[in-house]
Amino acid sequence: MSSGATGDAFDWDAYWTDADEEKREEASPSSHHAADVLPEFVDRFDAPPGVADVGCGAGVTTFTAADRLAETVVGYDTAAPVVERNRDRAEREGVENVRFEQATLPTFDPDREFGIVFSYFTLQYVRDVERTLENLYAAVAPGGALVCNYMNRAARDFCLVAADDPHANVDHPFVFDPDQYTERFGALLDGDSVLSRERIYETLGTWPRSAFTIADRPDVRWAWHHAPLVYVPK
Ligand SMILES: C[S@@+](CC[C@H](N)C(=O)[O-])C[C@H]1O[C@@H](n2cnc3c(N)ncnc32)[C@H](O)[C@@H]1O
Repeated sequence: MSSGATGDAFDWDAYWTDADEEKREEASPSSHHAADVLPEFVDRFDAPPGVADVGCGAGVTTFTAADRLAETVVGYDTAAPVVERNRDRAEREGVENVRFEQATLPTFDPDREFGIVFSYFTLQYVRDVERTLENLYAAVAPGGALVCNYMNRAARDFCLVAADDPHANVDHPFVFDPDQYTERFGALLDGDSVLSRERIYETLGTWPRSAFTIADRPDVRWAWHHAPLVYVPK
């Protein structure tokens, strides 16, 4: 599906190096809703122990889940600077049930299985999204679930309009850095990382279900239409 029309992979290491508060917030979409949804989901789903937060960024959901749950929560991210910073925070705040490791999707080969493998607003950045799904799902313990959101065709259409002239869109909340827009969303704009319920089913052999059949839906938001939050039980 890739046209190769858009730029090279976005440099997340550079993004997170000395990221100021604005950049940290911009790359922490989970803070708006998912940080509360995940611990509630874990409580109600009654999965085997262990939670992985893959593409954890600044760790908003990772730290919230560790605070609300007794079990171990491990945050993974491709960017070494944010992993280091999260480790420092865990040590400073004395959070004992959280760990942070570097991992770059589509490769994901942790040294253990997790009851819940969670990934939020990260799959859209990975071109080989099917291998990503397979590897995340392989890390789920039997009786657990992969919980993730994905950007669908509506999200891609939305981004294609914005990519046409990112500078024209500066009043819109979904803008990011206009000069890096096509690099950042290259995999989505090219169509490689666009997912659907059907594509997830064809890849994993199990239909995804809305996470809001388990956890309460916080609000009606842009995210729920363009980036559905689903779970795939195992
Ligand atoms: C938009 S942020 C979302 C952060 C967090 N999940 C949240 O919602 O608050 C995407 C994160 O995915 C990470 N990321 C991007 N590509 C990745 C890859 N191939 N493997 C692992 N992490 C990746 C980035 O470094 C960034 O921290």
